[in-house]
Amino acid sequence: MSDAPHLSTLNPFKARTSRLDQPDPTHAAMREAGPVVRLDGPGGSPVWIVTAEQPAREILTDPRFTKNPSHAPANWNHEAAPLEQTAEAQPSLTTLDGEPHAALRRAHAPLFSAKRIRAQSERVHHLARTLLAEVDDGAPVDLMAGFTTRFPLTVLIDLLGLPMDLVPAAGAACLRMLSDIPGQQADAIGTLAGLAASGLDRGGDGIAARLRDRLGPDTPPRDLHYHLFSLIFAGQLTTDAALGFVIAEWLTSSEPSTRSIPELVDHVLRQHPPAPFTLWRFTTTPVSVAGIDLPAGAAVLIDIRGIGTDPGHTGGTDLVFGAGPHYCIGAQLARLELTAVLTVLRDDFPRARLAVPAAHLQCSTVGGIMGDRLVQMPVLLRP
Ligand code: HEM
Repeated sequence: MSDAPHLSTLNPFKARTSRLDQPDPTHAAMREAGPVVRLDGPGGSPVWIVTAEQPAREILTDPRFTKNPSHAPANWNHEAAPLEQTAEAQPSLTTLDGEPHAALRRAHAPLFSAKRIRAQSERVHHLARTLLAEVDDGAPVDLMAGFTTRFPLTVLIDLLGLPMDLVPAAGAACLRMLSDIPGQQADAIGTLAGLAASGLDRGGDGIAARLRDRLGPDTPPRDLHYHLFSLIFAGQLTTDAALGFVIAEWLTSSEPSTRSIPELVDHVLRQHPPAPFTLWRFTTTPVSVAGIDLPAGAAVLIDIRGIGTDPGHTGGTDLVFGAGPHYCIGAQLARLELTAVLTVLRDDFPRARLAVPAAHLQCSTVGGIMGDRLVQMPVLLRP
């Protein structure tokens, strides 16, 4: 057993803006240094990053790795690397482990099953068609400003059964979640949870009401509202970013007809995963991973982007949506949204093209464990 290589000069967590065709070199550098590497993390503590698929999959199903921030190192800098509240203070899918997590998953899972989501296909295509038609005024339109944020949020609010007039306020709150101004994130969480609560009060027969019924009367309203916040936030931010890259690839790919739409979506998600890292995990006890010793209380991330872009990756299921008990609950929905938008572009806007050279497209990230997003994507929908 040995220590992980310490890469003291690498920083994959910094805010960055780069050209779309210039991949972030830090993921390849970490992968080349070994299956587990140690970096100076944004939380002020070391972070162990897993860069190889096999140990990553083992960790994602290993109960010695907890998602509960109560196990974070005591000196963690929450402003530089925000963590959710502890599972004791605010139970959630993303912070609970073991049986309490499994019970909460059981309440959610049927509402997001492949069958249930397939049944929404026509509705999701309709929303994509309507929103794209709305932004098309014959002039170049920045789809990142006018469409990619609004579409996933509209789909979520619709599926949850919340009133559509919540979309603008929910969109503004999602943007505040990315702010580095102290207090903005907590404020945005409160806003989104409050919107979900007011939407539920105004009736509606969607996933929100069904989740409330499945959770039962013992679940405090505060917890229900937080679960709804989690769905809106996790589903909006990721799909917004993915849409930009997927549409850009669709409009610029020289061989779109040789790849099916689902294949193109999978390819782009591997190159530009909206979650380049998993969420934080912490060891509850000393653990050895791929021959490397990790102490108790170690902060651990899986490098989803590095693993997915490994030239040695043999294909098959990838880790874009995670794996194990915390596998993304919205994976089916996200794939439906992404394929629906490309299908509508193909059928309704067959001559759509970028209004700027592809080399001008830039992406940026606020840093931390957040993925990147195209800054702008001016498109002429009907040239
Ligand atoms: C392209 C879009 C998406 C990507 C790439 C993505 C990626 C991920 C990943 C990697 C995880 C696992 C994180 C970890 O294990 O630490 C996750 C979990 C989760 N995702 Fe997604 N996601 C996407 C869309 C969605 C959507 C549309 C929803 C909403 C319905 C959603 C809701 C969630 C939730 C609630 C979890 C936590 C599940 C749990 O911990 O049990 N995601 N997602």
